[in-house]
Amino acid sequence: MRLDSVRLSHYRNYESLELSFSEKTNVLIGENAQGKTNLLEAIYVLALAKSHRTTHDKELIQWDAEAARVEGRVHKRRGDHSQEITISSRGKKAKLNHLEQRRLSDYVGALNIVLFAPEDLHIVKGSPQIRRRFLDMEIGQVSPVYLHELSQYLKVLKQRNALLKQLSMKGGDETFLDVLTEQMITLAVKIVQRRHHFIAQLEKWARPIHEGISRGQEKLVLIYRSDTFSNDLLDVEGMTASYTQKFGKIKENEIRRGVTLFGPHRDDFEMEVNGRNVQTYGSQGQQRTAALSLKLAEIELIHEEVGEYPLLLLDDVLSELDDHRQTHLLDTMQQKVQTILTTTSVDGIAHETIKQAKLFHVKQGAVILEETSYKEIVGEKTDE
Ligand SMILES: Nc1ncnc2c1ncn2[C@@H]1O[C@H](COP(=O)(O)OP(=O)(O)OP(=O)(O)O)[C@@H](O)[C@H]1O
Ligand SMILES: [Mg+2]
Repeated sequence: MRLDSVRLSHYRNYESLELSFSEKTNVLIGENAQGKTNLLEAIYVLALAKSHRTTHDKELIQWDAEAARVEGRVHKRRGDHSQEITISSRGKKAKLNHLEQRRLSDYVGALNIVLFAPEDLHIVKGSPQIRRRFLDMEIGQVSPVYLHELSQYLKVLKQRNALLKQLSMKGGDETFLDVLTEQMITLAVKIVQRRHHFIAQLEKWARPIHEGISRGQEKLVLIYRSDTFSNDLLDVEGMTASYTQKFGKIKENEIRRGVTLFGPHRDDFEMEVNGRNVQTYGSQGQQRTAALSLKLAEIELIHEEVGEYPLLLLDDVLSELDDHRQTHLLDTMQQKVQTILTTTSVDGIAHETIKQAKLFHVKQGAVILEETSYKEIVGEKTDE
């Protein structure tokens, strides 16, 4: 699939902007603080109805404006469509082909995106919360029903925590707690199963990629971690039984502490390189390779699940990678995915993918399409 064009209105530092993209590689060049990341973020929001940088949607609206809007024209094998997201103080509105979607889970997935940014290193070395967010966002892209189940789960969890708190302070009848526990378990099983499946798929693709980037030196393994289950996937009955047993055992403890102590909202996944946890023992370079492998694996996973390649957004990552990893990444892009990348300069990047790219200059919330070629910019001599 590809994004043919976008239109931004009052989005961060963009008053209004219209752009058409090349179906291959697009490079956004600009100095710091000009709006490169803002533009990538807008595309991310268009696809996922959420920013990767903030959980406060209000920040996306241009200062002093009422509402921000991002529109896009998307080409897929089955046909073209338009999509649109509007953010105002009243909330979010999402439209597909001008039709408002009541549930965001009906909207997300129309455009698939893989974003790779320097902060993705935190997926490897950051807190479990960051990894859960990664899982939730990425699974949601390929199976929208997951987002629906997740929001149901979080709703029940909230209710259950409120009740536990009340019981811890004042005591009372526990019948309703048992009802909520049962509802929560049913949803938890679905969520954990989907996460297991996703992790297994991701590992299938990430392992050979990681081996390639590390020149055959490193074997990457992904492990889903839950207090209730091991990594071998149990069936629905088995999982339900384990949860039921677990919650039966800790019920008194939960009531005393006034909070839910187990469940997918506390799970995590681990990355091992050559048998050692890369989060704890990996070097900076190994952690970066692991993060890159995960992202490149996602491209393949989405292709497998959706039948088309996603759009790849790269924020300032080329300069962070050594030559070998840079080449690996650029080779992948060149072959199959539409890419939009940001950089402060294309100097020193001699790869064909960049040489043939469409260049955009970003300056103070405006974009000037650069007609001059890469060769003129970097002053390379041509034989023509
Ligand atoms: N809601 C907003 N309204 C108006 N301007 C905003 C808003 N949010 C952020 N900005 C401005 O957008 C500017 C550009 O941000 P952006 O992160 O896109 O820069 P960048 O080109 O990616 O820079 P860098 O190379 O440093 O990463 C910021 O300096 C900030 O002042
Ligand atoms: Mg930036």
